[in-house]
Amino acid sequence: ERGLRVLDKGFLNTAVIRSEITYIDGEAGVLRYRGYPIEQLAVNSSYLECAYLLIYGSLPTRTQFRTFENEVMHHSIMHHDSEELYSSFRYDSHPMAILTSAFAALGSNHADANPSLAGQNLYTRGTPESLAVMDKQIFRLLGKATTMAAMAYRVRQGRAFVTPPVGLSYTGSFLYQMDHLGEEGYKPNPVLERALDVLFLVHADHELNASCTTVLQTGSSLVDPYSAIAAGCASLYGPLHGGANEAVIRMLISIGSPDNVPQFLEQVKRKESVLSGFGHRVYRTSDPRSFIVRKTADEVFAITGKDPLLETAMRLHDEAMKDDYFVSRKLAPNVDFWSGLIYRAMGFPLDFFPVLFAVPRVAGWLAHWRQMMLQEGGVKIWRPRQIYVGPEVREFVPIEQRK
Ligand code: SDX
Repeated sequence: ERGLRVLDKGFLNTAVIRSEITYIDGEAGVLRYRGYPIEQLAVNSSYLECAYLLIYGSLPTRTQFRTFENEVMHHSIMHHDSEELYSSFRYDSHPMAILTSAFAALGSNHADANPSLAGQNLYTRGTPESLAVMDKQIFRLLGKATTMAAMAYRVRQGRAFVTPPVGLSYTGSFLYQMDHLGEEGYKPNPVLERALDVLFLVHADHELNASCTTVLQTGSSLVDPYSAIAAGCASLYGPLHGGANEAVIRMLISIGSPDNVPQFLEQVKRKESVLSGFGHRVYRTSDPRSFIVRKTADEVFAITGKDPLLETAMRLHDEAMKDDYFVSRKLAPNVDFWSGLIYRAMGFPLDFFPVLFAVPRVAGWLAHWRQMMLQEGGVKIWRPRQIYVGPEVREFVPIEQRK
């Protein structure tokens, strides 16, 4: 036994790795990607540039970014075989279940990327060859995330799959595949394209949240990155995590109108309901991303018109923020509280909202996976212990003697 073992349920205060990627100050409501404040990145950067920053540690030069973008967009094409897999899902399958399956299946196309087949230290050597193999998986997963999400959407709509276009931005290409109605020269609305890119950017990483921890826990066995990302996607699917943006809208619809907000909040205090989109394990004040998302919502509504649910959301926000039950528990809006209103205004189906969280989070998952593969001293498998409270040793009883 190695010294005293401390039980830390839910990892409230356990650090499992040293990281240089994302910094959060939960008391002050600070979020930085590689030292850059999220507020500055949201105004000046793009999702794909932040993906580069998170993964490689610095803002890219123009040449570096062009090369990176070309590689990622080149890999946005999916193999024709994958259409069979997608077509096997029922039209009403939840798109997160489809996406989780598709990430795992994607790995089956790349035996050369599988350490079980290509050698277990495939990614941990840090040599130029090893780094190049790692980069290729990163380009594939980033590039294909949007295409795989769009394919899940098309399954729902019963429409043919669309080959990613040439010449559009990362987010523009995604919108093209989502909206493509066949008219030539389709271009996404620039305001909506920028709004979705800002949403992707603020969702790109958030240090060791449940899904990122799942990616690292899974990746620590040196399995291929596709399987690790699939595991992270499954974790994000839950309503306590990435599924909250869908849960917020369902909550607002069930509340019905601003007048019903006080009654709903009483239900929450009786623990009969959860105030989705509020609360956070780390933030003890408003999530800094929620202000950026709220501002982006107004920019979208200027184009699409206000979502009728906005009034209810604003009343819910204002009432909860001055109610001692929530204030005393330091419950404030998180990134999910306003984002669903934007996705709804942009016409995405409700159960597709967690997919709009998963797609951009692939960059953060990959950044942490790469950091773990290259960490000093190599990768140690994550194998926590427990505090055993089961029965003492006892003798076996044959079934005829059992009562
Ligand atoms: C994300 O970790 C990350 O970084 C995640 C994320 C990311 O970018 O990866 O930021 C994305 O997942 C944001 C969170 C989205 N989830 C939701 O909005 C679901 C609603 N929120 C809660 O389920 C909750 O706040 C959690 C899960 C987010 C955090 O839960 P904790 O840290 O385990 O806190 P807790 O459940 O112990 O709550 C402490 C108290 C409890 O009350 P008491 O037992 O003291 O009476 O606060 C209450 C809870 O009941 N509480 C809530 C509440 N959240 C906590 N009460 C009502 N509504 C809520 N939303």
